[in-house]
This record gives sequence, structure tokens and C-alpha cells, in this order.
Amino acid sequence: MDELLSMLFSSDEEELHVLDSMAYLLMFMALCTFFTLLFENVPYGRYATSRYGFPVNVKFAWFVQELPAISVPLCLLLWATPAKTSQMPNQILLAMYFCHYIHRSLIYPFLIRGGKATPVVSFVLAFVFCVYNGYMQVRYLSHYATYPADWITHPCFIGGCGLWLFGWLVNVYSDHILRNLRKPGETGYKVPRGGVFEYVSGANFFGEIAEWAGFALAGYSVHSASFSIFTAVVLSSRAVAHHKWYLAKFEDYPKSRKALIPFLF
Ligand SMILES: NC(=O)c1ccc[n+]([C@@H]2O[C@H](COP(=O)([O-])OP(=O)(O)OC[C@H]3O[C@@H](n4cnc5c(N)ncnc54)[C@H](OP(=O)(O)O)[C@@H]3O)[C@@H](O)[C@H]2O)c1
Repeated sequence: MDELLSMLFSSDEEELHVLDSMAYLLMFMALCTFFTLLFENVPYGRYATSRYGFPVNVKFAWFVQELPAISVPLCLLLWATPAKTSQMPNQILLAMYFCHYIHRSLIYPFLIRGGKATPVVSFVLAFVFCVYNGYMQVRYLSHYATYPADWITHPCFIGGCGLWLFGWLVNVYSDHILRNLRKPGETGYKVPRGGVFEYVSGANFFGEIAEWAGFALAGYSVHSASFSIFTAVVLSSRAVAHHKWYLAKFEDYPKSRKALIPFLF
């Protein structure tokens, strides 16, 4: 891996410059995505359409598309020389990243009940995103990120870790609620109840947005911020779309429920 990286980059400075550029590019892509999603829903799940190519089995799609978010980082940690992994803030941030993606890639796909097939274009884009972001986050944290000696007692780090944990628990629990709306073999939709769903239609998305906002706060880098912004753009669009969809589909849908942010929006 070290040899491959040294073929790609002539120095650490050059690789860091590339990592920074990737983060700014992801922010730019978030802006483009924001405007695109004003006119179109993210095309998978209930919005899947044949315009985005042939359908891919949903469990296979989630497993394969998310796998690079673990495999690329693992290669970087095991076979590159990770200069910063002995530092406590870097270790904790890497643990947060892996905790999320071990669940998302190795557990979540196999628990899905009756999910809609994923259009191949959405599948390929998600795969590319996981390669891109997996390399950017983990290479930066394992080889370049340098924090002050007392960073783990800084309010940004402590608050960010707390927000990450809160978001992760909300995300996992909300996905669990959605899954249990369907009995084995069912594919239809019901009104989700309980947990943060009592307040918002996109409880799982609210959790994931909080999670990566916490990661960005604790990591305090352009790399973690770009991931957080991109996630917020995609998932807030999905939460708003789901909210409108529920209101149109269910006459008895709770009127006080918001789309994404409890009591506000
Ligand atoms: N970080 C990122 O950029 C990013 C991007 C996308 C997703 N994610 C995360 O990935 C997870 C899944 O995302 P998603 O967009 O697929 O979530 P979703 O649209 O809420 O769907 C999640 C699962 O629950 C089912 N479901 C949803 N609402 C239901 C209802 N009312 N009744 C019965 N079943 C229902 C869906 O089935 P159907 O397939 O049949 O609709 C699907 O299998 C979430 O935790 C999300 O935060 C993260």
C-alpha cells in the first residue's frame, strides 16, 4: 500500500493537498446535489425508478455499496504506514467511523425487511462515494491529523463525541423501528411510531445527520466537515420528501410531526 501511495504522490505534502482538495470538491458536490434535489428525489427506496437503470437486490446493494467504506480504510490501516494512529483523538475518531460502518455494511443490509430494489445508478454512486470518503476520512485521520495534546478535553471534542453517540443511537434505533413495521414477507408502508418518530418523519435521518455533525465537530477538519455537509444535504432532502409522502398517503398522519428537526422543521 505504501508503494502504491508513493507511486501516486511524490510527498506527504502532495497527498495532503489532494486530501484537502477532495474535501473542497465534496463540498462543491454537496452544493450541486442540493440544487438537483430541489427537483428530484434521491432515486432509491420508495422513489426507485427504472430511469436510473436496472434494479439491484436491496440487501446485495447495501452490502456491496457500503463495503468500500470499511475495506479501503482497513487496507490503509493495515498496509500503509499510519503515522498518527497512536494518538488518542485520532484513535477515538477512527473508532467512531468504524463503529458506524461496521453496522451499516455488515449488519444493516441483512436485517432489511421487504426493501425496494436499488436502481443500478444509485448503487454505483453510493459505491463510489464510499471509496472516496473512506479514503479521505481514514487516510487523513490515520496519517495527517494532528491535534493539540489536550484536544480530548476540549469542549468541541467532548461535545462532538456526545453528539455522535446520541445521533448513532437515534439512527440505529429508528431504523429498527422502521424494520419492525413490516412482518416477514411484507413490503408495504405503515406510519412509524415511537422514539424520535413521535416528533419527526425522518428520525433515522435526523440521527445520522447529528452523528456526522458530531464527528465533524470532534474532528475539526475540512475533511470531516465536508462529509457532514454532504450527508446533511442528501438526508434532509429525503426527510422532507418522506414527510410530504406520508402526509399525502395517510389521512391520519400525525399533524404535529415535523419533517426533520423536532418542533422546528
Ligand atoms: N450518510 C449518508 O449520506 C446516507 C445516505 C443514505 C442513507 N443513509 C442511511 O441509511 C439508512 C437507510 O436509508 P434509507 O434512505 O433507505 O431510509 P428509509 O427510506 O427510511 O428506509 C429504510 C428502510 O425502512 C423501510 N421503510 C421506510 N419507511 C417505512 C414505512 N413507513 N413502513 C415500512 N417500511 C419502511 C424501507 O423500505 P423501502 O425500501 O421499501 O422503502 C427501507 O428498507 C438510514 O439510516 C440513513 O440514515 C445514509
